[in-house]
Amino acid sequence: MQASELEVVVTERIIRPARNLAGALRLPGDKSISHRYGLLSGLAEGTSTFSNFSTGADPSSSLACVAALGAKVEWLPGHSNADRVAVTGVGGQFTPSASPLDCGNSGSTMRMIAGLLAAQTGEFTLVGDESLTRRPMERVRKPLSQMGAQIELTDGHAPITVRGAALAGIDFATPIPSAQVKTALLFAGLQAEGTTTVRESVRTRDHSELALRAFGAQLTRTIDSVSITGKQTLKAIEAAVPGDMSSAAFFLCAAALFPESNLVLDGLGLNPTRATLLDVLTALGANIAVLNLEEKYGELVGTVQLNPPQSLGGTTVSGALAAQLIDELPVLAAIAPYTRNGIRIRDAKELRVKESDRIDLVVKNLRAMGAEVEEFEDGLDVPGGQQLHGAQIDSGGDHRIAMAFSVAALRAEGDTSILGAESAAISFPEFFDMLETVAER
Ligand code: S3P
Repeated sequence: MQASELEVVVTERIIRPARNLAGALRLPGDKSISHRYGLLSGLAEGTSTFSNFSTGADPSSSLACVAALGAKVEWLPGHSNADRVAVTGVGGQFTPSASPLDCGNSGSTMRMIAGLLAAQTGEFTLVGDESLTRRPMERVRKPLSQMGAQIELTDGHAPITVRGAALAGIDFATPIPSAQVKTALLFAGLQAEGTTTVRESVRTRDHSELALRAFGAQLTRTIDSVSITGKQTLKAIEAAVPGDMSSAAFFLCAAALFPESNLVLDGLGLNPTRATLLDVLTALGANIAVLNLEEKYGELVGTVQLNPPQSLGGTTVSGALAAQLIDELPVLAAIAPYTRNGIRIRDAKELRVKESDRIDLVVKNLRAMGAEVEEFEDGLDVPGGQQLHGAQIDSGGDHRIAMAFSVAALRAEGDTSILGAESAAISFPEFFDMLETVAER
């Protein structure tokens, strides 16, 4: 079964307050890693198989795109039906598809596949849904054009036309930290003449570097750069995708709100470029134990046990931390009123160009629940010591907003209704069911 077939259209979800979170969960596969495994296996030679592949709609968009470009994608029966997938790659050469490649809601798909296609023969059109069509694409057009590809945007956005070309490696410093832009360049660099170097001021998630190595490519890294030499070929792999830390974030933050919680997450991805939330929760006073650490293809996986404090302290997230925690900031802001000293977020302007303007929606929804909050262009200040009440939440069709406010709702007075709750399926279709299994009332 395809992940998209699992989507249930629920326009509204009622979240009732909880007493605590207790139990053990195994999270579905990491969205970022699934994208990379899906895209690279589509280009590679041979058949790759992945277990615990993300069930989210976004990685399915990546698979659908490589399938439209000639790869064979087959979902295999697994213990939870939709989590095993086999991808037979095209062995280096994609076939242009007759119709546009639909990236759905997925910025990762659009930006990363632009890099893969920049070196391919032919013309490719990339389209997305309304939210994706609003997101900035100049950040990939510029460096890929410098490498020699012809890329046309529509007023800085999708639809994008990529006319592939023989590319030459470049040395590029990313002006804003972005793993998607880095990945687009590495995927193009893999197929280019010469060496491509990407320099970044903050080390963003490094799943692309690890995945490229897993598929047999060679890369070199320094503290602030990664280089890939072109004309390398990829060979199929067999891999298990670690549990998604950004999905786990909702459960970790929810558990941290209740002194009586006891939550265990097994098989969780603990790549250091993704695990900063554990440090923040520790700084807020939670006790976090990491057990059973293992490594596969460079990705760390382990069990995380969270024991909350009597009450959470407070913290500031800014600078490099803001970039590393970018997907976790909405849920951190959503639990901030329940801390003693509040949470201050700065240097997070990128939140305004995600699936929605996440600063705007977090501020609006916190206020709807009765919180005092101050908005800044690049972040927000949420004072602590505030009790929220149930409200109607506008998710704006953004999965992380829907899930973040489901968490805030667990400690509110009265019920909360989440509008557009079905958007959780973009990254985490199982979210509401899993929440019910661990929320004690
Ligand atoms: C992602 C990188 C981040 C993140 C997104 C996934 C990735 O985006 O917000 O959810 O998988 O590389 P940016 O590259 O725009 O920072």
